[in-house]
Amino acid sequence: MNLQELIKTAKILVAGDKGLLAMDESNPTCNKRFAALGIPQTPEVRCAYREMIVTTRGLSESISGAILYDETICQQLKDGTPFVKAIINAGIIPGIKVDAGAKELAGHPGEKITEGLDGLQDRLMEYFQTGIRFAKWRAVIAIGNGIPTRGCIEANAHALARYAALCQECGLVPVVEPEVLMDGGHTLEQCFKVTEEVLHTVFNQLYRQGVMLEGMILKPNMVLPGLICLKQVSSEDVADATVKCLLRAVPAAVPGIAFLSGGQSSELASARLNAMNVRFKSRLPWALAFSFARAIQQPALEIWQGKEANVLEAQKALYHRAKCNQAARLGEYTAKMERS
Ligand code: 13P
Repeated sequence: MNLQELIKTAKILVAGDKGLLAMDESNPTCNKRFAALGIPQTPEVRCAYREMIVTTRGLSESISGAILYDETICQQLKDGTPFVKAIINAGIIPGIKVDAGAKELAGHPGEKITEGLDGLQDRLMEYFQTGIRFAKWRAVIAIGNGIPTRGCIEANAHALARYAALCQECGLVPVVEPEVLMDGGHTLEQCFKVTEEVLHTVFNQLYRQGVMLEGMILKPNMVLPGLICLKQVSSEDVADATVKCLLRAVPAAVPGIAFLSGGQSSELASARLNAMNVRFKSRLPWALAFSFARAIQQPALEIWQGKEANVLEAQKALYHRAKCNQAARLGEYTAKMERS
């Protein structure tokens, strides 16, 4: 394990004003988003979609790393360039989603456990050989009647820590993603409580498994009221609650926190990240960055519609969202940017 390389890669991923682009939807998830827009759900169309994304001019101005799905790693651009090489050529660090998805957790109705530890070391070593330098694992925690349980939180935290330790051993920076879901009618305060407990448990497990905090990235949810909670709150309230929660639970040795968007609108995700950086940036031990999938890609996907003729317009939309989030990292995002 080359500790210095891990530390360097982790720092680059969250340096300056850049962030990560999550383009690692599993085939079922990608197909679901295609189906909603009437786009054919085939490997070829998924490949064309990912080519539209990675060939967006100037993407590396605001994107430091791109997270891929295994299918994409095995595909090439139309000119025959493998995706990993195309991303490296574009000045972006390639990463990979390595979990095998969230499955029902036995004995815990309504809760899930993320699978994928079996054989993981071999897969990580192969990914490293292809040029991949970081990896992501997503655990999901739902809030509801009597959930999350300690059983679910501990099982997922343990798996995250074992994955993270394996990543570091194989030279890959782990992007540790414990996602407290937005679904439901829970309040901001309930989300705060659950997120705090989840993060404490995750960092406890990371410590037990000997994960080097300087060589990892945390990818958490923002602290938000549930999607159907009647009491929605301002971006400033989200910023205050999220930063308060993170300050309590995330050690200062972690170089950066890159949020998932989790189903927020693109504009809200940018505005909330911006509010955090406006209010707290100069006083935080870690960088506050983004690792959005939907909040960067969705407008571009809706324009693209699976049609070659729409590629340039879709790329403009993707570039714009990446730029908005770059501004949000600096606390310089404004609603005006959405009209320009
Ligand atoms: P969203 O930003 O769409 O939540 O996706 C982030 C991600 O990578 C989920 O694993």
